[in-house]
Amino acid sequence: MKWRTRVTELLGSRYPIIQGAFGGFGVSALAAPVSEAGGFGIITASALRNPEGLREDIRRARSMTDQPFGVNISVGLCPRIDEMREVAIEERVPVIFTAAYRADDHGQRIKEAGLKWVHKVATIKHALAAERHGADAVVIVGLEGTGFKNISQLPTLVTITNAARMLKVPVIAAGGIGDARSFLASLAMGAEGVYIGTGFIATKECPISDRYKEALVKSQPWEPAVRDRALAPPRPEEYERIAQGKGTMSMDEWLPRMESVLLKQSPDFKIDWDADYDPGEALRITGPSLTVGFIDRVVSVKEFIDTIIREAEQMLSREGHLGKLVA
Ligand SMILES: Cc1cc2nc3c(=O)[nH]c(=O)nc-3n(C[C@H](O)[C@H](O)[C@H](O)COP(=O)(O)O)c2cc1C
Repeated sequence: MKWRTRVTELLGSRYPIIQGAFGGFGVSALAAPVSEAGGFGIITASALRNPEGLREDIRRARSMTDQPFGVNISVGLCPRIDEMREVAIEERVPVIFTAAYRADDHGQRIKEAGLKWVHKVATIKHALAAERHGADAVVIVGLEGTGFKNISQLPTLVTITNAARMLKVPVIAAGGIGDARSFLASLAMGAEGVYIGTGFIATKECPISDRYKEALVKSQPWEPAVRDRALAPPRPEEYERIAQGKGTMSMDEWLPRMESVLLKQSPDFKIDWDADYDPGEALRITGPSLTVGFIDRVVSVKEFIDTIIREAEQMLSREGHLGKLVA
């Protein structure tokens, strides 16, 4: 079966499955195998820490696959972000993903350079703004997902279903997706692609410790630490406190403070990019999403993607079991 959507056409991938960005460890070791297996891998610029490291990693990925992959630059989290963006442009990475805060300046520069721009947001309001600013597609992360939390964020089901009705550009669903059923459900809601974070962490190629991957296999979404991390929005009073500080300090100072609230950290949390940064730190900061319920073993990236596609195709076939309909 052909899995063509406007998203596969935009990205040039075989399947509408995109690997999420990971500060700390989202490097070619994971991105290249994802693209090679028919998905769309993403190198997270901040995981390389500086523009020289990013350039080297893009070239490393190119030596590992001839399939297209992208680069993520996360506003407020990525050090030397303008230089990182320029490296991705110079290296002609076909699609640049931005995330976190407003990214229209980056988007404009990416488009002027003749590349595609996809922005990731947590609410429909921000998705509509990205569309107005010229994004070629938007990723919308529902509450079930991990990463930035927005005080107005809603669950994936209602967010994507509404977004698909309201946006003209293709919508890519994220948050709590990690198996064939959640993949098909996203397409049924109107998404034209899925964006998977936590699911890809539990793969053999993901460059983090086996101990953490085993912990993901054992975790359940109803455990308070996992459930509350995902479902409880940031504290409004902390959000207000930082929001009011806008304009009283430079954007470089303010943004990381706002990001730490959106990531539900202490507002004074700060990453020291010059210190010896441990990839595991990203996991401590962000944590897994409710997808842990689907993760029952650590498999290769290829097996992970192939299983989603094979099971989805089975469910869509006449003999398959899409839902639990009784003939
Ligand atoms: C450890 C970790 C680090 C992450 N770092 C980033 C990041 O630097 N930039 C970004 O845009 N998203 C980041 N994310 C969010 C993912 O890219 C993705 O949006 C999210 O995991 C999707 O939800 P899911 O985990 O339910 O699939 C991170 C997620 C995790 C688990």
